[in-house]
Amino acid sequence: MSKVFEEVHLKHLTLKNRLVRSATQDPFGGPEGFVSDKQKELYRTIANNNVGMVITAHACVTPEGNVGGGQNGIYDDKFIAGQSEVASIIKAGGAAAVMQISHAGGNVMPYPGSDQLTLLAPVEKVFAKGVQAAKAMDKDDMEYVKNGFVEGAKRAMQAGFDGIQIHLAHGYLLSQFLNPCINTREDEYGVNAEGRFRFPKEVLTAVREAVGPDYPIFVKINSNCEENDEAFEQDFMYYMSELDKFGLEGIEVSGWNFTPLGRSGARDYFLERASKAAAAINTPVFLIGGMRNLDDMQRALDAGMVLCSMSRPFIAEPDIGTKLANGEESRCTSCSKCFYLIHKEGRRCILHPMPEQK
Ligand SMILES: Cc1cc2nc3c(=O)[nH]c(=O)nc-3n(C[C@H](O)[C@H](O)[C@H](O)COP(=O)(O)O)c2cc1C
Ligand code: SF4
Repeated sequence: MSKVFEEVHLKHLTLKNRLVRSATQDPFGGPEGFVSDKQKELYRTIANNNVGMVITAHACVTPEGNVGGGQNGIYDDKFIAGQSEVASIIKAGGAAAVMQISHAGGNVMPYPGSDQLTLLAPVEKVFAKGVQAAKAMDKDDMEYVKNGFVEGAKRAMQAGFDGIQIHLAHGYLLSQFLNPCINTREDEYGVNAEGRFRFPKEVLTAVREAVGPDYPIFVKINSNCEENDEAFEQDFMYYMSELDKFGLEGIEVSGWNFTPLGRSGARDYFLERASKAAAAINTPVFLIGGMRNLDDMQRALDAGMVLCSMSRPFIAEPDIGTKLANGEESRCTSCSKCFYLIHKEGRRCILHPMPEQK
């Protein structure tokens, strides 16, 4: 049996295997961020098919931190009931249930009503086409967002999730703070890696205090940067060494260019840096990005990863866990059309039948 499908012990959680469904927003969110029946069905299929841990789509911790596209919310108690059904469904399938919580910063899609909100970011900037400039956050804004993360984490706990994952990756708020190409602040929240880490650190500290020392907290973080990437490696290693002090359950390593790399046929995109960091810290590190079969995952495990995450293979085939366990490989071509296909063709993936053919 592949090592991927062996049981693994993290700090507090024991997973039946090392396969993780990475956080993936789907197009099925109900009105106003509630969990829909289609989402519950999706989580049921994923969790019933040999997955060790399922990380939910990111849920926004404040209303203006909503990325759009029907994103689920966790900024109010009204979301707890639906999310607790998600947690139960995932756990009933034998997987650990982890909710990813996030704030999109200025990087939102235009959606009805979004122009009425004041977007927040480390600096004043237009982040996305057709969207107003985000406001540079002051201390009050930071308190407000920090409180959003704290309350979101407490709600996830109340909903019965086995843990949370704080989204420090891709283009969203906390990664905007960590990214020297974006965070040009000249106060104590910018200037150098220590300054850029300050706000994410304050969020993590407050969340840890709120959920207690034993509740599993994961993070997802970028290992690279769009400019001056060689210099950023030092920042990344600094962030990882700081994160090591939080008693985290695991750190999932991604990158800013988290999907396009696969279009060139690359695999295990961020393994080199993830592996370097894993060797330097005690917290379990795991990889996301470009794994499509057991060989890709074994390479990651051999390089010091504790778990192997996949996202798009679960879009293409939500039962991919069972297929991998049977030695098959994912049919996902990494084309990334899943970001928009549903709106164009009414299907999620190029491998799915057109709606009229179903
Ligand atoms: C449609 C779509 C939605 C995504 N939503 C999220 C999300 O909610 N949170 C997150 O951290 N990453 C999200 N991602 C990124 C994936 O988790 C993952 O990092 C990326 O797709 C690379 O992994 P893969 O090669 O296995 O797909 C999303 C990716 C896609 C394609
Ligand atoms: S649309 Fe392309 S990238 Fe997305 S899941 Fe399908 S095959 Fe993979």
